[in-house]
Amino acid sequence: MKLLKAYLSRQLRHPTGYGGRLILRLINQENGGMNAIALNVLDAQPGQEILEIGCGGGDLINRLLKTEQLPQITAIDASQTAVDMVCHKFKEAMATNRLVVHQAKAEAMPFADNGFDAIVTVNTLYFWPDVPTVINEFKRQLTYKCEWYGSELVIADRFYPSSQICSNCGHQQKMPLHLRTYECNECGFTADRDFNAAVNLENYVNK
Ligand SMILES: C[S@@+](CC[C@H](N)C(=O)[O-])C[C@H]1O[C@@H](n2cnc3c(N)ncnc32)[C@H](O)[C@@H]1O
Ligand SMILES: [Zn+2]
Repeated sequence: MKLLKAYLSRQLRHPTGYGGRLILRLINQENGGMNAIALNVLDAQPGQEILEIGCGGGDLINRLLKTEQLPQITAIDASQTAVDMVCHKFKEAMATNRLVVHQAKAEAMPFADNGFDAIVTVNTLYFWPDVPTVINEFKRQLTYKCEWYGSELVIADRFYPSSQICSNCGHQQKMPLHLRTYECNECGFTADRDFNAAVNLENYVNK
């Protein structure tokens, strides 16, 4: 049992070979809900350049390719097995340059200063060995695009309690990590924990 757990955890971190391809298919099914939330919050606009980090089996790419807004998608993943799978699955989108895929690690992204309009990552952060380096890279890429458009980059305070605030009424309550659904003690609003946090971060910009 211990060995199986260790194998699964290795494959989730870095899908490899036949087992990796199976895991990637499972991930596509399991993470559908989170990827749907990410798509909603991203709110892609025509012509936008979107970077996905740790694309896995490509569920979010699939959703983005189906939107009417036709964003330009760049995806990276540290696993060659994941990259091969995604390249095979979306070869038409790659042929028309709607999608570009690189085998690369989040902490060493192969991009110059040209920047992205939005950067998205789902279920990967806990695998990054150096989170601050990756976040700094996000900042660099987004800063470039904001200067280009003459818009402001808003960075939320690191202690802003996005998971604890009710995105419907503003009430704040404790949210231990095991609680996956936000249920507001004040107004009764319920939502997926991450969705609620994402809406709070979106509203933070307009404060
Ligand atoms: C649990 S899967 C999530 C896949 C996809 N984002 C989803 O939610 O369906 C984690 C993915 O992150 C990738 N990954 C892990 N560490 C990474 C890193 N340092 N840089 C880029 N990708 C990484 C893995 O190869 C794997 O494909
Ligand atoms: Zn509330």
